[in-house]
Amino acid sequence: MTGNDFIDVFEKLAGKHPGVRKGHAKGVCAIGEFMPTEVGRRYSDSPLFSSGKSAASIRFSMAGGNPHASETARSPRGIGVKLTMADGSVHNLAGLTTPVFPGKSPEVFLGLLETLLPNKQGKVDGSQIMQYRHDHPSTLPQFNWLQAHNPPSAYTSVNYHGIHAFYFVDGQGKKTKFKWRLVPKEGEVLLTDAQMEQLPDTFLANKLEQQLLQGPINYELEAVIGHEEDETNNPSLMWPDSREVVTLGTLSIRDSGDVSCEPINFDPNRLAKGIEPSDDPVLKIRSTAYAISFGKRLSGQ
Ligand code: HEM
Repeated sequence: MTGNDFIDVFEKLAGKHPGVRKGHAKGVCAIGEFMPTEVGRRYSDSPLFSSGKSAASIRFSMAGGNPHASETARSPRGIGVKLTMADGSVHNLAGLTTPVFPGKSPEVFLGLLETLLPNKQGKVDGSQIMQYRHDHPSTLPQFNWLQAHNPPSAYTSVNYHGIHAFYFVDGQGKKTKFKWRLVPKEGEVLLTDAQMEQLPDTFLANKLEQQLLQGPINYELEAVIGHEEDETNNPSLMWPDSREVVTLGTLSIRDSGDVSCEPINFDPNRLAKGIEPSDDPVLKIRSTAYAISFGKRLSGQ
């Protein structure tokens, strides 16, 4: 199995949309900056925490390969952030509004996507999807989370989760496992059931533009610090709520609506010095899938 298998199945599910991202096809660009606290320096010698402000290129998006996805759907929203430090080095973040991923491995996720394809009669078989979920329980935590939480009322009124484990590495080579999340300073505001019925399919980009007329929107970048026993290779599971949470800095979103994020590949394995990927197989395969999607869309495929 390779990253290309995912591109194939995304294109089968959503149809071909030349020049568009094969995942998270619908989205909006934004720009801002990241200001670190002192805390990151305790764990990592990354310039992200020691060299002041970084410039932020951001993209908010709807999950899936459909560029016309409904923004009231019970599906994840995504954020891509490319942080460029004073010395020119780059750190990417690409996370979802769900704290977990629908499968403990690329194989389980690919199998789930395949059950969503129409059968020979041209129908999506709901009982096949239920059976697959039953046989592969690691697909359930995200499904249950999406049923229990209405979608956000704005791209900036919801938490985003890095989902995978990463490592901080300090100057002595000491590693600390963590998972990142972005938490809006103003708190979360989700759609009501009535709004989910009434709102049009497209409102999020416009809402973001309107909100930014009032001034920047601030997010805290937090790290959940893992314990020895916390798994690093299963993105379908959260670590216990009791884990220590530290604030790494503030992401301020200043403006939106240009095309500056289009030529960006928010590959989540492009990390600053002092931060390393874990052994999560889903994290690993993302780089190939993103590179293929990036190459295709920039060449008009
Ligand atoms: C096997 C697992 C996954 C596959 C195959 C996959 C595939 C993709 C692809 C092909 C794109 C479009 C990339 C581009 O054209 O630049 C994309 C975008 C994205 N994915 Fe994934 N993804 C996976 C898992 C995840 C996970 C675990 C997260 C969150 C932790 C995530 C968050 C995002 C976000 C936020 C974007 C939009 C980035 C942007 O705006 O450019 N994905 N994904």
